Amino acid sequence: MKEQVLSYIETIKSVSFEKMDDLETFRIQYLGKKGIIPALFADFKNVAAADRKEMGVLLNDLKQAVTTKIDEAKDLIENLIQHIDSSNDLSLPVSKEIGTRHPLSLVRNEIIEIFARIGFTVEEGPEIEDDWHNFTALNFPEEHPARDMQDTFFIEKSPDIALRTHTSSVQVRVMENNQAPIRSIFPGRVFRNEAISARAHCIFHQVEGLYIDENVSFADLKQTLMYFAKEMFGENTGIRLRPSYFPFTEPSAEMDISCHICGGKGCNICKYTGWVEILGCGMVDPNVLTNAGIDAEKYTGFAFGMGIERITMLKYQIKDLRLFFENDLRFLQQFESAI
Ligand code: PHE
Repeated sequence: MKEQVLSYIETIKSVSFEKMDDLETFRIQYLGKKGIIPALFADFKNVAAADRKEMGVLLNDLKQAVTTKIDEAKDLIENLIQHIDSSNDLSLPVSKEIGTRHPLSLVRNEIIEIFARIGFTVEEGPEIEDDWHNFTALNFPEEHPARDMQDTFFIEKSPDIALRTHTSSVQVRVMENNQAPIRSIFPGRVFRNEAISARAHCIFHQVEGLYIDENVSFADLKQTLMYFAKEMFGENTGIRLRPSYFPFTEPSAEMDISCHICGGKGCNICKYTGWVEILGCGMVDPNVLTNAGIDAEKYTGFAFGMGIERITMLKYQIKDLRLFFENDLRFLQQFESAI
């Protein structure tokens, strides 16, 4: 009997259970009315008087081993069930990360609001464009280098269908579909076949502006852009227009703002010039007005186009454009508190 009890104690040590049912079987096997332990206690009366003390201790050890085993296993199984239950709780939030608006969206919205205050509405056009809207109507000569495969992602050739290379294509669509006066901005995504680097990407965002009416002059353009620059970068911001060339504007200019980091004194952001370029602009070429069905004798207009990435990088001093597209939460969460 002694050997038997010792071997039971040994077996119990290595038993393990996968579910509550197994544990209950084990309990009945040892402690049930017809179980091993009651049977051993019943046999106890047959033990020789000399061995009784030792056998009594052993039997109690066995009983203790069984109850301890059961208690431990219960705790373990209950813990496990609780864990599974809570990880399956469908009412829990999906993730602890709460989204924030992307910095490019924040800046795009700010640009829209600034122009809305002076009466500009928002229009949009397709990202997949035909040659007419992206190039020909905008006065691009047939052999112009911007039509080169290097810059444009073509989808089909002759007739050419491509991903738009700028939002100026929307100018043409809006003029074709509306009567003057027109006063709108067109935010959107544009595509160019460029190597990705800290300063360039093959996908980026622009906001185009178009104002067509009788007697619109270069002074109106300058005043509008000065208003924009001060609203966006602060009251003390100065602007400077440098002559430039775009096929669809004449005259054309590029606009710089006084460096808002160093206040014009010179720093590494403005490359020690005191100025940073932010957009291209000009008076809409009469050919473009005619191409898009606007009476070029009666109406004049101005247009401008800016890169949202560039404005955002300047505003928030972001040094690498690729950060906008990596979706790293540590970067994205810096711009707006969780919504
Ligand atoms: N489309 C020009 C560009 O992508 C910008 C521009 C828009 C210039 C409107 C003049 C007028 O660089």
